[in-house]
Amino acid sequence: MRTPCQNLVVVWVLIVGFLGCKDQVTNTSETSTTIFNRDLVVDLKDTGIKIQPTMYGIFFEDINFAADGGLYAEMIKNRSFEFTLPKTGWMEPNSDRHSYNNQSGIMSVVKYGGEGANHNFARVEVKDPQGYVLINEGFRGMGVHEGAQYDLSLKAAKHLGDITKIHFQIVDSLDQVLGETTILPDNKDWKTYNASFTVSKTEMKAKAKITFQGKGEIDMDMVSLFPKDTWKGREKGLRKDLVQLLADLNPGFLRFPGGCIVEGRTLARRYQWKKTVGDIEDREILINRWNTEFAHRPAPDYYQSFGLGFFEYFQLSEDIGAQPLPILGCGIACQFNTGELVPMNQLEPYVQDALDLIEFANGDVNTAWGKVRSEMGHPEPFNMKFIGIGNEQWGPAYIERYMVFEQAIKSKYPEIAIVSGSGPFPDGDYFEYGWDQLKKLNAEIVDEHYYRPPQWFRENADRYDSYDRTGPKVFAGEYAAQSVAIASPENKNNWECALSEAAFMTGLERNADVVYLTSYAPLMAHEEGWQWTPDMIWFNNLQSFGTANYQVQKMYATNAGTDLLSISENGEKLIGQDGLYATAVKDAYTNEIIIKMVNTSEGQQQVNIVFGNKSPKGEVEVLTLAMEDLQAENSFADPFKVSPKKRILELEEGKLAALLPPQAFVIYRVNI
Ligand code: AHR
Repeated sequence: MRTPCQNLVVVWVLIVGFLGCKDQVTNTSETSTTIFNRDLVVDLKDTGIKIQPTMYGIFFEDINFAADGGLYAEMIKNRSFEFTLPKTGWMEPNSDRHSYNNQSGIMSVVKYGGEGANHNFARVEVKDPQGYVLINEGFRGMGVHEGAQYDLSLKAAKHLGDITKIHFQIVDSLDQVLGETTILPDNKDWKTYNASFTVSKTEMKAKAKITFQGKGEIDMDMVSLFPKDTWKGREKGLRKDLVQLLADLNPGFLRFPGGCIVEGRTLARRYQWKKTVGDIEDREILINRWNTEFAHRPAPDYYQSFGLGFFEYFQLSEDIGAQPLPILGCGIACQFNTGELVPMNQLEPYVQDALDLIEFANGDVNTAWGKVRSEMGHPEPFNMKFIGIGNEQWGPAYIERYMVFEQAIKSKYPEIAIVSGSGPFPDGDYFEYGWDQLKKLNAEIVDEHYYRPPQWFRENADRYDSYDRTGPKVFAGEYAAQSVAIASPENKNNWECALSEAAFMTGLERNADVVYLTSYAPLMAHEEGWQWTPDMIWFNNLQSFGTANYQVQKMYATNAGTDLLSISENGEKLIGQDGLYATAVKDAYTNEIIIKMVNTSEGQQQVNIVFGNKSPKGEVEVLTLAMEDLQAENSFADPFKVSPKKRILELEEGKLAALLPPQAFVIYRVNI
């Protein structure tokens, strides 16, 4: 139903002329003649409500090959031969293992099982120096760029005979050499060898080919290949294009390392941050829990090398100006899987992990864990302010354990804000119970997750309007509109989903006194290695792009503002009446008013906005994201199909008169 002031009028050209507006709307449909004419008021009075600097952040989980095979730029899969099947990723094309006579050589994995995390190495016996070849297939191939430099490192020890040369090549599917280097092993003891080379041709699915000269046996371990050109040029670092996409989001926080990955399908396979710091070689690999979680997208070769570990997550947070927000397991394995529980009297090591993590992040270099951080190259503290306890836990078992963590953390580190969880669903028994208990405990921040149809997002822009203003703050920690069903392989990152999220997000912002942190999930997916869709960023071995959902997140986060203002129509907030949603903030740094409007209707909307008794003058910056086709998506072929267009609009007589295209998300920045 339309409100009385929302008059249906005719051809938009007449209206624009009538209002004397110079607004030249991009993406406007000539065929869409329906216009709602709406008079809105932005009240410039201080609401006293701050937009938290953490309002729009990033959720990172190693799902969909987001870390190994993705952000972490290592190109060799199973570099230390530690996978459950230790030759995974490695092939011997010229060697018939079933016939001794047909072997040019053979690779065996030696399990020496000693102390530490790296239990295996490869022993290569070379019989035919011309013929024996080892191939590493990379992560769905290796992406190499013409003219780019690549850094090889490997450990080797000459065991028997005399292998004089290791010839390392990057080849394409036709075995054409794209780049190569050699290593001359000269020691019977373990020694690390490094070499670099340049690649002559761009290739998405290259492989590493290793040939050996001489005869005998040589041991190899930690065979590693990285592009030189990583994020910030860090050796063995992160993929530059992917971090850039994250940095461009201007994120307020970085939540890591997940997600369900925190909990593990069993307790033994939970994420243990202490095993992810220190020398890379000493980080014990772990089966990725998404490895065979979904029968329709099995990835038996999906492991966590932890080359991207907690130090790197903190460093990444710092690099991109985001507050680090680590989430730790609370002694409950994923309740969708085993739900294993640590008995209460054995919870202490889990709690100690949380306390030690705070020391690792913030402690003085003379503390045990501060020293570890310092030795890794970061003597200054990371200034961590938040910690999350548990991911999607539910029921009394969670509350009981959460209380123990809370007590321990607050008594030692009262300044650290604790994020608790309300379970996997945005409503229902688990949710109600969790919230009820957490409120009684005066919890500070409660994480909520919603993977729901696009319509749900459009219909729930008022979700937080009725939340208790004196209760815990909200972390909308995982959300994404699902075009088909939760995690359905048919889900799309289409404009309908992104537009619906934009509409919903007006409600997050309007309730900035309750909602302190928000993040879309999951963040990243490899084109061939994904398990869960939709995802905000897609990549393959060469390229990456932000989806329509990414563009929406970026528009919010780069226009977050500092202070909430009220925007209304006839004294009512805009929560989707005739498809119009709106929120307004002030940016105290730039002295601008930022108005975000979402029109989910198929018609255009003429909005006439006044600013209390002020009459701002001058130019307005307008950012418009609009698509007539709700199924439109960005893709590798057309990465910016759904992306905002910027233009300038002139204010007249202190009024902002603008025409919102159908199905559009528009941001106005007005100098005040
Ligand atoms: O984002 C994918 C998964 O969805 C997360 O790991 C989990 O927390 C949620 O169920």
